[in-house]
Amino acid sequence: MRFDEQLRLAGKAALVCGAGRGLGRSIAEGLAEAGADVVVASRNAAEIEALAAQLRRTGHGRALACRADVTRPEEVEAAVERVIAELGRIDILFNVAGGRMRKAVVETSDEEWDAMLRSNLSSAFYACRAAGRRFLSQRSGCVINVASTAGLRGRADRTAYCAAKAALINFSRALAVEWAPANIRVNVLCPGRFHTPATAAEHGDPVRYAKLLELSPLRRIASADEIKAAAVYLASPAAAYATGTVLVLDGGQTIT
Ligand SMILES: NC(=O)c1ccc[n+]([C@@H]2O[C@H](COP(=O)([O-])OP(=O)(O)OC[C@H]3O[C@@H](n4cnc5c(N)ncnc54)[C@H](OP(=O)(O)O)[C@@H]3O)[C@@H](O)[C@H]2O)c1
Repeated sequence: MRFDEQLRLAGKAALVCGAGRGLGRSIAEGLAEAGADVVVASRNAAEIEALAAQLRRTGHGRALACRADVTRPEEVEAAVERVIAELGRIDILFNVAGGRMRKAVVETSDEEWDAMLRSNLSSAFYACRAAGRRFLSQRSGCVINVASTAGLRGRADRTAYCAAKAALINFSRALAVEWAPANIRVNVLCPGRFHTPATAAEHGDPVRYAKLLELSPLRRIASADEIKAAAVYLASPAAAYATGTVLVLDGGQTIT
């Protein structure tokens, strides 16, 4: 097959969890532009309805919104069921939703610790378990979990977030081994610094921003759109031999 055709996703059905804003939104746009049918999920119904309408206008496949809080297993199960009911199949699962927290360990409550693990790690487990039943029965499927460079290194005052993202990375590797015999691929995207609503306040502080640029060998912060090509690649037949991969997109931040 021609290389450019391997990047096409026509006929594939994707669920993007955490798609209302930021990186999840760009990933959903990328999948739709590559031809996939896309279901976008988050807790904000207005945001995902507007995105689904946009994808129907600009993408090449079908698009619909599904309100779900991915920290609630029953809502994640329902979202996967909805994808199968409305699109007839599920081929691609993106777990993008995740929360951050800046707090010293000694000031972190049990509830805050649990919330970090639930939003960054358990949410992906719930979604993989729900979609995995279908993937295993059809003997195909692919999962892309969005972690962070924070899962690859230590960062002061972000210990709970670093721990959750590191666990997500190795959850993905272990699942890649578990599901490889059934032809199901599991990969990780590790963003470094991207402009999104979640990072806007920090990037809006000129002193902090200058410091962040200093930490980046490429001396810039990426736009959310710059995640699209990597997301489409990992979801596509072009990545048929990639499983358990951790694809770092960080302008070189982790090599310094
Ligand atoms: N931006 C960066 O520089 C960067 C760097 C490294 C890693 N990441 C990771 O990339 C992912 C996306 O980050 P972002 O910066 O794009 O964040 P963002 O701008 O805050 O967007 C997060 C999206 O996920 C949804 N979401 C959050 N919690 C959810 C839940 N419990 N259930 C359903 N949807 C939920 C949000 O919608 P609602 O809140 O309305 O539900 C929103 O649509 C996160 O996992 C983050 O850790 C980002």
